[in-house]
Amino acid sequence: MEVMPQPLTIVILAAGLGTRMKSRHAKVLHRAGGKTLLQHVIDTALELAPAERIFVVVGHQAERVRESVTTPGIGFIEQTEQKGTGHAVLIGRHALAGLDGHLMVLYGDCPLLRTETLRRLIAQSAEGAAAGVLLSAMMEDPYGYGRVIRDSRGHVLDVVEQKAGTPEQLAIKEANMGIYCFRAGLFWEHVGEIQPNNPAREYYLTDMPAILHRAGHTVEAMRIDDPAEALGINDRAQLAEVDRIFRDRKRRAVLAAGVTLIQPETITIDPAAEIGQDSIIEPFAQILGKTTIGENCRVGACSIVSDSTLADEVHIGAFTIVTTSVLEHGVHAGPYARLRMENHVEAGAHIGNFVELKKTRMGKGAKANHLAYLGDSEIGARVNIGAGTITCNYDGLKKHRTGIGEGAFVGSNSTLVAPLDIGEGAYVAAGSVITQPVPPDALALGRARQENKEEWAKKRRKLAKS
Ligand code: UD1
Ligand code: CA
Repeated sequence: MEVMPQPLTIVILAAGLGTRMKSRHAKVLHRAGGKTLLQHVIDTALELAPAERIFVVVGHQAERVRESVTTPGIGFIEQTEQKGTGHAVLIGRHALAGLDGHLMVLYGDCPLLRTETLRRLIAQSAEGAAAGVLLSAMMEDPYGYGRVIRDSRGHVLDVVEQKAGTPEQLAIKEANMGIYCFRAGLFWEHVGEIQPNNPAREYYLTDMPAILHRAGHTVEAMRIDDPAEALGINDRAQLAEVDRIFRDRKRRAVLAAGVTLIQPETITIDPAAEIGQDSIIEPFAQILGKTTIGENCRVGACSIVSDSTLADEVHIGAFTIVTTSVLEHGVHAGPYARLRMENHVEAGAHIGNFVELKKTRMGKGAKANHLAYLGDSEIGARVNIGAGTITCNYDGLKKHRTGIGEGAFVGSNSTLVAPLDIGEGAYVAAGSVITQPVPPDALALGRARQENKEEWAKKRRKLAKS
């Protein structure tokens, strides 16, 4: 965190329901770019101030919004009735007015803002004589935004809302982005003067420039070049747009770090995911949650890797799902494999098509190349699991473990009824149902012996003709 000339307090307004979202969930709980809208804003705020100086105003679904915040130390202020953006800050007075320095107000539905932009806003506020600085942007179509009214010297006289503006005011293309940095002392001295004298009977925070101006202070506006950065989310179309922008930002960062993305626009990478140099990600792959991928890896088309760790040289085939698993150096998995939860696949092991793993450890160089279910299993190094092998780990009440010793060979279509141990170097004959432990180096046969009836078919055909 950069040292600010003066302490900074940040208030994030997030009490609104967001009617235009047409949702049963509070607006700030919706996700874009892999995080809730509110968490984006909090993460940005944390780069500017310590958690103890960050406060979120909650109202609609306050409890759920609070629980969604993963950062410890953040303060919450409850606004039980949403009487406007000015009211939302005002009710925090008791918790906030004692905090000196600067007060920055952010909106919870405005997640694209960059830390650099906010740093410039704070700097302008700290260096100049103004009582406050607001963020504005020139917009082709500023419909819905407050318009910034300036005097001849460029100071802000007022911010006029869409609903209240005269045609001349609404013709102004400079829009209020809803982000402010005030001198805390002056702000608290005057915030009580906001009146709900508008058709909506709301307390508008946007009245502050006019109030401060009247009291003989100046308010400045800092223009940003790209209004998209301050895009506020009011409906689902804007949510989709913001998601696209976040995904694009992450992809650009990944590309810049030396990763190849094939048809990048189709690939989804969550913010916390890390991918090593020279790895290749194929179209429509999704790298989600806290996933770490090493160097020289390949993730196949349409695969989903979430909350997993892949060492270097790991190859994931197409249409493969890997969840909460660790894959060591050189592992191959897929195409069409599912590593469902908490698996640990050691170096060089191969998991082939239509193989499902659950809570299973595969030893070094072990192979399960086709059509198998391996659950709650510990499989030793160099074990070969034949096609169609199933661990019967569930008896209807409890899950049981299967252990298979190093170098064992499990023939195709074996049914391994757990709890079960198969010794090192043992063989299980194809098609066996194994219910008893198999000693090391033994051959286990668990199937009916084959019987051949000579000439049977020929006799049958003769019988049919006569
Ligand atoms: C606001 C600004 C407008 C600006 C625009 C930028 C006001 C009056 N208007 O309009 O000038 O151009 O943002 O996006 O401020 N909130 C509360 N409690 C309330 C009311 C709102 O916490 O009582 C929160 C909302 O949850 C939301 C934020 O404040 O996160 C902004 O409210 P919203 O109703 O979206 O304001 P806009 O109409 O977009
Ligand atoms: Ca808004």
